[in-house]
Amino acid sequence: MSPQNLPGQPHLAYRNNELFLEEIRLSDLVREHGTPLFVYSKGAMLAALAAYQRGFAGRNVQICYAMKANSTLGVIQVFAQAGCGFDIVSGGEMDRVVTAGGKAAKTIFSGVGKTSAEMRRALHAGVSCFNVESEAELEVLSELALSMGMRAPVSIRVNPNVDPKTHPYISTGLKDSKFGVAHQRVVQTYQRAAKLAGIQVVGIDCHIGSQITQEEPYLDAVARMLDLVQAIEAAGVSIRHLDFGGGLGINYNDDRPPPADLLWKKLLALLDARGFGDRPLMIEPGRSLVGNAGVCLTEVLYLKPGEQKNFCIIDAAMNDLPRPAMYQAFHQIVPLTPGVEASGTWDVVGPVCESGDWIGHDRTLAVKQGDLLAVLSAGAYCMSMASNYNSRGRAAEILVDGTQADVIRQRETIMDQISKENLL
Ligand code: LLP
Repeated sequence: MSPQNLPGQPHLAYRNNELFLEEIRLSDLVREHGTPLFVYSKGAMLAALAAYQRGFAGRNVQICYAMKANSTLGVIQVFAQAGCGFDIVSGGEMDRVVTAGGKAAKTIFSGVGKTSAEMRRALHAGVSCFNVESEAELEVLSELALSMGMRAPVSIRVNPNVDPKTHPYISTGLKDSKFGVAHQRVVQTYQRAAKLAGIQVVGIDCHIGSQITQEEPYLDAVARMLDLVQAIEAAGVSIRHLDFGGGLGINYNDDRPPPADLLWKKLLALLDARGFGDRPLMIEPGRSLVGNAGVCLTEVLYLKPGEQKNFCIIDAAMNDLPRPAMYQAFHQIVPLTPGVEASGTWDVVGPVCESGDWIGHDRTLAVKQGDLLAVLSAGAYCMSMASNYNSRGRAAEILVDGTQADVIRQRETIMDQISKENLL
């Protein structure tokens, strides 16, 4: 039987009715490592990166992987070895970059609430840029840099007031968002920055949201950002690099985001047409580099048919896969070995004591107790958002590269969970 690929999941395929990621049979990993288990394809990550690299061919660009999407050291290593920089949002992420062999000089520090300790740590490490989000943050950063005998390289995150047409919790570029400096205050903020002795203005950035599946919001945001660059430079402050943030969506449920290479060819044509084609560029993709590279494997614990609903209770839960509960997000759920048993419509739910602990509603699945399922598109914002709720240990993680499968995170034990607690 020839391999049967799943739509939007080029590294995942059924061979003789068994699900493989690259050259690894996923049920073999379950036998060895148990469930729930996250498994990532290195090939899928590098293929996603290659789409961006094709789009930017011949340009001066720094791709900074937004590691909040998946900050496991082994994943950071894949991108560091491929030449990526990183977009970080905390001191902890800075430490992860350094530990995984990433370069501070290719790292940018984003986020609306950086603490003084985090800024000091990042200055000391030599980050390439602070993406500053308010005038108050500028003042603090300037003082800190001066006290260390340095000037902090700064880009101001501007809020272009563009609707990314995505879930409200992951929209960040609208007027009422806590992120970025409001459009009408941007020129003043740059003028203020240019006067601060501890600040060196190096760029401008914007990020309008996540899981963006249309190209228009990007085109609008880029056009608005270029208008701002013209206004800032006319006011006497020069800007070197342009950073367009992240946000490109992936295919979860027949979503059709523009491919990264085609989108960027279009955006670069816009830059060229407006005379900005030779500026150094930066981007901060997260989800689109890792989201469809990962699956979460889980076992069916019990089937609980009911009058109104049939429940398929699995051993992965909202602490492992928080996106459905938080954003009503859809993840495909497929069997590792498709069965022929009576099929039914199931609400796939976890063991956590919350009605919000669901992974999929009304799914047509042929399942029985003990079957193994894969929750797809689980490479981004799953393990990095996982918690210990209900004192559940976080899952193990495996990185697959061809026929090789490496454990990049061991399953968390109860000792890992309680070791920082003290009895009275
Ligand atoms: N840059 C900045 C400043 C960001 O805030 C983010 C994501 C990114 C880059 C990367 O965006 P991406 O390419 O991954 O869309 N937990 C949510 C997503 C939150 C995104 C937060 N910021 C989810 O699971 O959908």
